[in-house]
Amino acid sequence: MNIKLIPLSLLCLFYTTSPAQQNADEATIDKLIAQMTLAEKVGQMTQLTLDKVAKGKEFDDNKTMEIDPQKLDSVLLHYHVGSILNTGTYALPREKWYELISQIQKVATQKTRMKIPVLYGIDAIHGATFTAGSTIFPQELAMAATWNPSLVEKAGAISAYEVRASAIPWNFSPVLDLGRQPLWSRFFETFGEDPYLVAQMGKAIIHGYQGDDFNHPEKVAACLKHYVGYSNSVSGKDRSPILMPERLLREYYLVPFAEAVKNGAMTVMVNSAEINGTPVHADYHIITEILKQELKFDGFAVTDWEDIIMLYSVHNVAANYKDAVAMAINAGIDMSMTPSDVTFCKLLIENVNEGKVAMSRIDDAVRRILRVKIKLGLFEHPYYDAKMYPKFASPEFSNQNYLTALESVTLLKNNNNIMPLSKGKKVLVTGAGANLLNPLNGAWTYTWQGVETKHNPKDKKTVLQAIQDELGADKTIYVEGTSYDKDINTAEAVKQAQNADYIVVVLAEKPSAEKPGDIEDLTMDRTQLNLVKELAKSGKPIVLVLLENRPRIISEIEPLAAAVVMAYHPGNEGGRAIAEILFGDANPSGKLPFTYPRFTGSFTTYDYKKSETRDINFKFNAVNPQFTFGSGLSYTTFQYSDLSIDKTKITLNDSLTVTVKLTNTGAREGKEVVQMYVRDEVASITPSNKRLRAFSKVNLKAGESTTLSFVIHPKDLAFVNAKNEWITEAGDFTVMIDGMSKGFLLSK
Ligand code: BGC
Repeated sequence: MNIKLIPLSLLCLFYTTSPAQQNADEATIDKLIAQMTLAEKVGQMTQLTLDKVAKGKEFDDNKTMEIDPQKLDSVLLHYHVGSILNTGTYALPREKWYELISQIQKVATQKTRMKIPVLYGIDAIHGATFTAGSTIFPQELAMAATWNPSLVEKAGAISAYEVRASAIPWNFSPVLDLGRQPLWSRFFETFGEDPYLVAQMGKAIIHGYQGDDFNHPEKVAACLKHYVGYSNSVSGKDRSPILMPERLLREYYLVPFAEAVKNGAMTVMVNSAEINGTPVHADYHIITEILKQELKFDGFAVTDWEDIIMLYSVHNVAANYKDAVAMAINAGIDMSMTPSDVTFCKLLIENVNEGKVAMSRIDDAVRRILRVKIKLGLFEHPYYDAKMYPKFASPEFSNQNYLTALESVTLLKNNNNIMPLSKGKKVLVTGAGANLLNPLNGAWTYTWQGVETKHNPKDKKTVLQAIQDELGADKTIYVEGTSYDKDINTAEAVKQAQNADYIVVVLAEKPSAEKPGDIEDLTMDRTQLNLVKELAKSGKPIVLVLLENRPRIISEIEPLAAAVVMAYHPGNEGGRAIAEILFGDANPSGKLPFTYPRFTGSFTTYDYKKSETRDINFKFNAVNPQFTFGSGLSYTTFQYSDLSIDKTKITLNDSLTVTVKLTNTGAREGKEVVQMYVRDEVASITPSNKRLRAFSKVNLKAGESTTLSFVIHPKDLAFVNAKNEWITEAGDFTVMIDGMSKGFLLSK
């Protein structure tokens, strides 16, 4: 029997500034709030999109972005708006960002009565995605595949530098949602399915964004999104209902957010959907009780796009906009991304005057927003001099981007070691993703959906161009084959296969995000599957390269391929990284950060329950994914040996040290991700077959060995029980690394 031993509090507040500085900041905030009118306070809580202060129509692709001084005056002087976001429709040059933001900040800090700077926010989710010419990194899912937090932190630091180099101090990143629902359109924006991996990657990127103190010209404030549970809709459609017991929410979905808050993240964007019938924007328990009271989050919570309006226009929990405003602010929302509407201000003022929203709630929200503005140093520097950023888009940054892309590329299959491909042979390159930058980058790149090609840089290589660099044009045959969903010239590709020694097919899902990315069927586009089937008839070895928003089902064609390379969205250096791995200039070391399903009706994660494994014959064989979590091949071989634990029995006050030897038994240098899993054999809540508890990426030369050790504390073995408390239960546990395992007993 298991005995409940201890409730664990994973939470403690982490301050990056000294207590004296904090006191001084709070005193400044007190003074400001004491002088502000209700309208000025409500203005601070309002966030508008850039188009609301710009000339011309909203979201007009063809317009040149220019500030409209009348609109700007009205928004800042009449409505006292405290935050602006977004880019219109496309990426702007850095100089343009300076022009726009300096105009906005001049009015805010010189013409308004309170002289409070505007907090400008942008979705720079894999590099400064809306600044032309910036360093565009792999998307988060690819970053997670590196299993290398140090690379992810550096990517965060470069992104922060380039965002600040665009005069913007606030980044709506990282996404800390878990990628456990493969249908979801934003799967690629996550760090994958495991809460520990996501929390580690989240911590790394946030440290890159914010440093130890984000009052710094090269740092930005992070925004954790989408708090919380957003990724796990029942249908897989974006912004559709989530059903989730609080136990599960706490054990899985909350973990990366709690870790990020503990590490100093000061802003949070709220989940647009509903959980168990309550839209999260109206959920006092989730926003106020859990985030602000329990996690001691002292930053502010911003809505997602129009989400207060959606409380009455979509969710039907409020009869009208005014009630929706009271509902959201009372639930704990501090800032409303309205973002095209100023009636929010009027309605919130009315709600306060009618006693439906307390002034103390308004003061609390404003205090939280001002705290972030002060911590960012905006009062002293609403923006810094553009000349302070000479490294913007530098070769140094591109190289770091390339290293990140390289470590993300994941070799999932390599029959008879067909890869690396020989450079002396001829290659047919084909497929929807072969000669396009867009599917290398995915959505949120230069435009929201990332499909438009006119903003693409001229100096970045597609997979085809990078292969041509490797082989020379004479050994590369290119036939487009298909677009994302239409046959272009499959027959010609099949014909040209006769002249090639290998076929590289780059399958690509059309970039998309949010609602436009909803799908009805997880299967990879049938025209693209057909291309592979037709090419297979040639008998020439096929290498599949996958550029996907989520794991599209490829089980019909996977057996036809000699090799499969998962490239996710590897960013602007992705073409080069893929080509160098295909031809062996680089050794792959990515590992899958999610479970790749084989069938459209069978989704499991690696930490499945035993009952999920029961098949139609009542045997335990039902879990059969296409590719497993944590898998990924190398051009060298690694041998694990000598797994040992220093104790076979521990108590709650002990820790356990696990050691394992790793040897590079192959012929070339390579990197391996050592993953330590633990299984709780019997528990009061059905235990998972295993949980990732630690990992480490190591580089070994051919023939080299190393011994790694991991320390397990009983709190690392905790789970959330039926009363929603973190506990560690006594009993038997099994530590697993690679194919080896060791058991130990945890007792009182
Ligand atoms: C998305 C957010 C994003 C926001 C601002 C929303 O539609 O869900 O992830 O940060 O827009 O662009």
